[in-house]
Amino acid sequence: MKIAFVGKGGSGKTTLSSLFIRHLAAAGAPVVAVDADINQHLGAALGLEETEAAALPAMGERLPLIKDYLRGSNPRIASAETMIKTTPPGAGSRLLRVDETNPVYDACARPVELDGGVVRLMVTGPFTEADVGVACYHSKTGAVELCLNHLVDGPGEYVVVDMTAGSDSFASGLFTRFDITFLVAEPTRKGVSVYRQYKEYARDFGVTLKVVGNKVQNQDDIDFLRAEAGDDLLVTVGHSDWVRAMEKGRPPRFEALEETNRRSLHTLRAAADATYGLRDRERYTRQMVQFHLKNAVGWGNARTGTDLAEQVDPGFVLGENPLATA
Ligand SMILES: Nc1ncnc2c1ncn2[C@@H]1O[C@H](COP(=O)(O)OP(=O)(O)OP(=O)(O)O)[C@@H](O)[C@H]1O
Ligand SMILES: [Mg+2]
Repeated sequence: MKIAFVGKGGSGKTTLSSLFIRHLAAAGAPVVAVDADINQHLGAALGLEETEAAALPAMGERLPLIKDYLRGSNPRIASAETMIKTTPPGAGSRLLRVDETNPVYDACARPVELDGGVVRLMVTGPFTEADVGVACYHSKTGAVELCLNHLVDGPGEYVVVDMTAGSDSFASGLFTRFDITFLVAEPTRKGVSVYRQYKEYARDFGVTLKVVGNKVQNQDDIDFLRAEAGDDLLVTVGHSDWVRAMEKGRPPRFEALEETNRRSLHTLRAAADATYGLRDRERYTRQMVQFHLKNAVGWGNARTGTDLAEQVDPGFVLGENPLATA
């Protein structure tokens, strides 16, 4: 299951992603955690020391390796240089699985030990001021998009991505790559305006979007979110002393998380799991092709000097069975 946490800056994306990841790990589920936010804080939220977090390999800097591996023997992709972030898999491509070892994880993922389990953590790499809004920035999240487009995941295994909800998310197809998107919103006008904007963008792409209210203090907060988000409001999370202790560098055992917050995490997982039956693999594949053709015309053909439309394998559908290739 591919799951994104998005929302306004400071709403609690990283906190809730990290709690959700801990929740899954405690249940023994295989998890790949991905930090694709501008502010790279997921490692710290998962308990890494500052130096450990800073030493994480950046996916954005390992794009050539990622491309070369995923390309495999796909005859439609002449070289890693002609592969762009949206180049879709086809016959001969190598696919990634959540629970395996492969050269991409070897290069880009690091194990993080949590109470009850170990997860793989991948980070896009820190964004600098100069990156934001330019090609470089997109090439960092582009590595995530490329991996998700080559990932075959089944029920009970999870890829959890901590993202931003800024308009940059919509410059690529990344926002369409998830089974479910949790939009973290504080009960404020700004919090819900990000939700409305996201919903508006996502509408035409069949994105499953659910609001997770955060830092909710009372019934009035819940009523406000309900009035604004209606049935999209999935669950709310209150202030957590567990989180506060962790922020002080004194993480309690995960079992000590407040019962109400644990129940909220359970609801998130149930909502994610429930989307499995709704998967439309053809549409998923069609959308990656759609974004690829858009990028090809927009800049890719000119950049690579090739007709990138030729990379599309018309008979290929990304499914759990890699042999589902025509
Ligand atoms: N439920 C909560 N209980 C207690 N503290 C919380 C809770 N949610 C978030 N916080 C705190 O609020 C601050 C912002 O949260 P967080 O870093 O998760 O937000 P973010 O959306 O990831 O922000 P950014 O946009 O900067 O990445 C952090 O200090 C975090 O510990
Ligand atoms: Mg964050």
